[in-house]
Amino acid sequence: MAISVSSPRVIIHGGAGGSLRSKGGLEAVRSILRGIVTRVYGCVADDGSARDGVVLGCRLLEDEPRFNAGTGSVLQSDGQVRMSSALMDGASSRFSGVINVSGLKNPIEVAQFLQGERDRVLSDVGAKELLRELQVPVFNPLTDLRLKEWMEERKGGFERTMASTLAEPQDDEAGRGTIGVVVLDGQGNIAAGTSTGGKGFERVGRVSDSAMPAGNYANGVAGVSCTGIGEDIIDECLAAKIVVRTTDGLSLREAFDRSIGESTENRRDLGAIGLDRAGAIAWGKTSEILVAAYHDGEEIGDTLELGDGMQVGSCGV
Ligand code: GLY
Repeated sequence: MAISVSSPRVIIHGGAGGSLRSKGGLEAVRSILRGIVTRVYGCVADDGSARDGVVLGCRLLEDEPRFNAGTGSVLQSDGQVRMSSALMDGASSRFSGVINVSGLKNPIEVAQFLQGERDRVLSDVGAKELLRELQVPVFNPLTDLRLKEWMEERKGGFERTMASTLAEPQDDEAGRGTIGVVVLDGQGNIAAGTSTGGKGFERVGRVSDSAMPAGNYANGVAGVSCTGIGEDIIDECLAAKIVVRTTDGLSLREAFDRSIGESTENRRDLGAIGLDRAGAIAWGKTSEILVAAYHDGEEIGDTLELGDGMQVGSCGV
């Protein structure tokens, strides 16, 4: 049951992975994240629903070429961009998503459309047919930096486990890019959305965690979006696990502590963000960095300068 809260809460991420290599890069990413979190908070504070806020936030993050989703998505092993995205509305406990779609700007908008359909998760051929039916404009999300990254990687025989978290001109480190947004609205409803270009350089047909409840989950109590190596997130069933633990009585912070602790023991490479209906916000990671920012109803914070390795943090708990 939704409860009334005094102000909304928003947390967003732009991936997890290797370090932000320069102070300039860090400040640029901080400014982008803070701008987007401010816009999402404004939408929800202005009576938008949690779902509206999530779709807006995911769209803005997909449009930002530094992040691995929408424009700026990484390439798969065959040199093609295929994107996956999911939306879960906690108010209706309804999940929708698209898997390995191409030739469009904002996969989250297709996930949003599918919320109202009988068949709510579509993959490549079916998703393509839906784009045609909806007359979604054709768009090429490929950027020069991602093409260059793929060409370099092809020379090395695709040995990296993943493409870079952020597309930066001088970036050559492995990373784990994805974007995600979790919102609590003024009515006490929660929604979560996640979108990705995938791991990068993967086998054609590989399915990302981002369009599974393992990577994106919400109900009336909590919502979580994950980032990192999809196979690790799936093996932990991380988003659903944190939400269910919170629903069963752990605090959001305890659910993050326990779940990220298990991920560390299991040597996973991932991160997660979340919030609950009481207004608590939390994040956790096993990776080097987590690119996330939040609005707690009063001020904006971010996770860009957490220490290396496992970290869990929270506010409003
Ligand atoms: N977490 C993004 C992916 O592995 O596809």
